[in-house]
Amino acid sequence: MKWSQHIIICLIQLVCWTSYNYPVNSLENGLLRQPPMGWLTWQRFRCVTDCQENPDTCISEKLIRTQAQLLVSGGYLAAGYEYIIIDDCWLNKTRAADGSLQPDNQRFPSGIRALSDYVHSLGLKFGIYEDYGTETCAGYPGVLGHLEQDAQTFASWKVDYLKLDGCNADIKDYDTGYPAMENALNATGFPIAYSCSWPAYQEYAKMKPNYSAIAQTCNLWRNWGDIDDSWDSVYSIVQWFGDNQDRLAPFHGPGHWNDPDMIVVGNYGLSPSQSRAQMALWSIMAAPLILSVDLRTISDWARDIILNKNLIAINQDPLGAMGRRILKLDGHVEVWSKSLQNDRTAFVALFPEPYGTPIRMSISLTDLGLGRFDEYDIFETFHGDFLGKYHKSDRYNFTINPSGDVHAFYVESALIKSL
Ligand code: GLA
Repeated sequence: MKWSQHIIICLIQLVCWTSYNYPVNSLENGLLRQPPMGWLTWQRFRCVTDCQENPDTCISEKLIRTQAQLLVSGGYLAAGYEYIIIDDCWLNKTRAADGSLQPDNQRFPSGIRALSDYVHSLGLKFGIYEDYGTETCAGYPGVLGHLEQDAQTFASWKVDYLKLDGCNADIKDYDTGYPAMENALNATGFPIAYSCSWPAYQEYAKMKPNYSAIAQTCNLWRNWGDIDDSWDSVYSIVQWFGDNQDRLAPFHGPGHWNDPDMIVVGNYGLSPSQSRAQMALWSIMAAPLILSVDLRTISDWARDIILNKNLIAINQDPLGAMGRRILKLDGHVEVWSKSLQNDRTAFVALFPEPYGTPIRMSISLTDLGLGRFDEYDIFETFHGDFLGKYHKSDRYNFTINPSGDVHAFYVESALIKSL
């Protein structure tokens, strides 16, 4: 044998040995077969901790109890929004004497287990935030060095959902650290949905995340930057997902979801049409629908958008396909589509920029990817109105308003009933 052949065989043996001996992880919790729906503190309430100055908006058990009640009485739970999640800034700045995590006892005087029990008594599920590093992004104790202990604490508090952020850690450690936390969660025997920020930090550092490993470890994962309360922020995330869809979509499905971040509808930054756009696009992307809004003051129109049954049905479709941007037309309008079960397809046409007047579009059914059946029924999505019967050789004409508005429609073969 030539020496070069010998080296190749040695290399193959080394690769095989490494892959056989590398710990194989798989998420064993069976959760989130459909994208999670819920409510989270961060976007609307951030890290307000001074309850003297801000008694109604500081991160506290009072805030969580109030919003939890409204999730139920406002019909959000009935529509599917079942998780209520405390983001950063719930912790005491130091661990307890035995090393365990403890909440800030001024703001959470009853303790987290009592709050979790209350949330469960309303029929909701309870989520909490931590960070893989030494400290959370806002400077509270992180889980590093305490993975098993903290997982046990979360299980003892009956935490149903953990958002594990990635500040204050070495990004290179995430590929082993996030799976290590998953093992610690599995070992508790308590089913905890696992939301990771693992790829978001790696994408930002221009590393290529190992989405295959991430999808085997996490139920959902943040891919990109934090959403803000503005159309620019929402649309920049939409663009990033469109530009990277080929890398992301294969790993998206029941039990494991890409996460473009929270729904910001109902706050200060989005107009009604931009709000319709965010909700329609998140539905098409089969994204987690995690609200962050003050449910005490939300307007009726924002609530109607968030509770829209047809959009939620598209988001929660059992196939779990991640919608894709399929067309960019006239330099203005882009069309996204998502396959639904029973040969249905949902579409969103988006006009993202400011422009003086509504624009008329005409798209052939073939360009929409339709043509397997001879005839299609088309419905407007927000109200479910029947828009007409179309032959596969027809064009579909519609008008769309500028500045972030959408025209949302869904299509089914004429033989199949509506959503
Ligand atoms: C990061 C996350 C946000 C939020 C904050 C909390 O920025 O991406 O979603 O959790 O930390 O400090």
